[in-house]
Amino acid sequence: MKPLTCLPSLFALLFIVVSHHLSPSWAASDSVYDNFLQCLTRRTQPSDNISDIVYSQSNSSFTNVLTSYLRNRRFNSSSTRKPLLIVTPKQESHVQATVLCSKDLGLHLKIRSGGHDYEGLSYISDDAFIILDIFNLRSIDVDAKEETAWVQAGATLGELYYRIWEKSKVHGFPAGVCTTLGVGGHLSGGGYGTMVRKYGLSVDHILDARIVDVRGRILDRKAMGEDLFWAIIGGGGASFGVILAYEIKLVPVPETVTVFRIQKTLDQNATDLVYKWQSVAPSTDPGLFMRLLLQPAASKTEKGQQTIGASVVALFLGNSDQLLAITDKEFPELGLKKENCTEISWIESVLWWIGFDNGTIPAPETLLSRDYPASFFKRKSDYIQTPITKDNLEWLWKKMIEVGKVGLVFNPLGGRMSEIPASATPFPHRAGNLVKVQYSVNWNEEDPEVGKKSLEQIRRLYSYMTPFVSKNPRRAFLNYRDIDIGTTTNGNNSYKEGRVYGVKYFNDNFERLVKVKTAVDPNNFFRNEQSIPTLPK
Ligand SMILES: Cc1cc2nc3c(=O)[nH]c(=O)nc-3n(C[C@H](O)[C@H](O)[C@H](O)COP(=O)(O)OP(=O)(O)OC[C@H]3O[C@@H](n4cnc5c(N)ncnc54)[C@H](O)[C@@H]3O)c2cc1C
Ligand SMILES: *[C@@H]1O[C@H](CO)[C@@H](O)[C@H](O)[C@H]1NC(C)=O
Ligand SMILES: *[C@@H]1O[C@H](CO)[C@@H](O)[C@H](O)[C@H]1NC(C)=O
Ligand SMILES: *[C@@H]1O[C@H](CO)[C@@H](O)[C@H](O)[C@H]1NC(C)=O
Ligand SMILES: *[C@@H]1O[C@H](CO)[C@@H](O)[C@H](O)[C@H]1NC(C)=O
Ligand SMILES: *[C@@H]1O[C@H](CO)[C@@H](O)[C@H](O)[C@H]1NC(C)=O
Ligand SMILES: *[C@@H]1O[C@H](CO)[C@@H](O)[C@H](O)[C@H]1NC(C)=O
Ligand SMILES: *[C@@H]1O[C@H](CO)[C@@H](O)[C@H](O)[C@H]1NC(C)=O
Repeated sequence: MKPLTCLPSLFALLFIVVSHHLSPSWAASDSVYDNFLQCLTRRTQPSDNISDIVYSQSNSSFTNVLTSYLRNRRFNSSSTRKPLLIVTPKQESHVQATVLCSKDLGLHLKIRSGGHDYEGLSYISDDAFIILDIFNLRSIDVDAKEETAWVQAGATLGELYYRIWEKSKVHGFPAGVCTTLGVGGHLSGGGYGTMVRKYGLSVDHILDARIVDVRGRILDRKAMGEDLFWAIIGGGGASFGVILAYEIKLVPVPETVTVFRIQKTLDQNATDLVYKWQSVAPSTDPGLFMRLLLQPAASKTEKGQQTIGASVVALFLGNSDQLLAITDKEFPELGLKKENCTEISWIESVLWWIGFDNGTIPAPETLLSRDYPASFFKRKSDYIQTPITKDNLEWLWKKMIEVGKVGLVFNPLGGRMSEIPASATPFPHRAGNLVKVQYSVNWNEEDPEVGKKSLEQIRRLYSYMTPFVSKNPRRAFLNYRDIDIGTTTNGNNSYKEGRVYGVKYFNDNFERLVKVKTAVDPNNFFRNEQSIPTLPK
């Protein structure tokens, strides 16, 4: 069984310029381009060479720029509507000018940082739109003495981890596993990773921010006020403005950490392992993060039979002796032995998590790679609040085998997550939640039938899980974007529509987000299919 990873391709990307045939309905953008460029020219300095940052559909680099940060191939089909323009600012003032010109010209703006949105909301839209793509704004300034850093939104997590490591071997930052994630989307949407039980989410470590608001102003925390600052640390940036940068607080990490991976199938008592995992993983030492991956797999012992593979993949913020003292006592079902443990540095553990095995971990410079092998995929999320019984687990295995292909990732909460109040940031799924579930299906064919079947499979498993997960509302994680849980057309019903998905992502924090939105962007300029609505007029 292959673990679900985020392995960047190690080969340098070949920049092949593809001249793309555009269907006529998209092609009439020349006047938009001219008008937009005129506006930008008025709002910037001649020395900015502003025409260098705007790509029209007829530009020979348009497809390359559009797809460089397109991470889900589902949204790269010829029938997917393309943006009229892509604007790629090189400095903050370009972002200000882009917001004002989009508003002047009545153009719908989508904002993209790393492009990892599961539903492509940063680069697709049903209406005519343009993309503000901020991959050029990627500077990172680490102050090891103060244990802080300013990170521009277009930086990747890999770059952030690397720049911290350059300055200090005993600091890190709690954020996602996949190192090509963009800071702009990831941090504004929560930020969940392998140190979540020790330190909470990325948003629990944000000190300040710089954004461009709907009036084109650059605001820091003091200037924007505490309500808006609260909203952009978990409520999603895209509803409120353009995030330029965050100031973050670094966290201490030990010089040596321990990682391990243990795999079992049903005939190796995987059910006992999973059952016990549910009580141990969310309650054990906060320095121990044990992710559980579940997937249908071919049985090795019974020919032609399907089984369930269960893998525990873990990071411990300490050495293997300390780890074994915990697992021997609390989790003998795991059968963890010293030989199964790998002691490495924290930065090596970052590489291990994206798929480099013990013995093949490359130099930390690999974290600077932005290559990412995009596939076709769909994700969904849930929260488990009470452990699933053994009988129900056995029922679930049958359903997983029946559905086929779809994997479940169980991420433990507890630890620091249970100590932070649900209203501290917009992210509400803290105390009372044991496990965050991610449903995962990938495919590699363009064939629409394969895509349709995969979507049907993942939705079916989600439906089978209903009795075991949170209800009223059935919770979901914003960073695991899922448009099945509701969307808005941003028309007169936007509040009602927004409430449907809003309470799933934000629970009781939804209404406060709506108030902030109504105050800072009353005309709903910053919007997408799942943005925070304004209060009904
Ligand atoms: C392979 C993979 C692995 C992942 N692993 C994890 C994980 O370990 N933990 C986790 O928590 N999540 C994970 N995610 C989800 C990820 O956190 C979200 O998809 C996140 O939104 C990605 O940020 P981005 O900047 O790359 O995405 P984008 O697609 O650029 O943006 C996502 C959303 O944020 C908005 N946005 C982006 N930049 C800005 C900005 N500067 N200002 C305002 N709004 C902005 C976009 O408009 C869009 O709505 C993973 C996703 C993938 C594809
Ligand atoms: C703008 O273009 C001129 C002429 O090509 C060049 O000398 C200058 O460095 C450019 N300015 C910027 C900010 O790139
Ligand atoms: C494409 O756009 C870039 C950036 O605006 C510009 O530098 C380049 O000259 C354009 N190329 C063509 C062929 O239009
Ligand atoms: C998207 O499609 C374009 C044009 O067919 C292709 O050049 C590009 O490699 C594709 N990119 C991804 C990430 O699928
Ligand atoms: C753990 O170590 C034991 C003893 O060396 C070995 O038999 C087993 O295969 C290892 N398990 C894994 C998952 O590597
Ligand atoms: C599974 O559990 C049974 C009963 O506790 C035990 O006898 C058996 O050895 C276990 N099998 C494995 C592979 O651990
Ligand atoms: C990791 O690699 C080292 C060196 O090759 C080896 O001694 C050790 O057994 C490996 N650990 C695991 C868990 O495979
Ligand atoms: C929304 O409401 C306004 C004011 O009542 C009305 O003029 C407009 O037609 C409505 N729009 C839609 C799309 O229903």
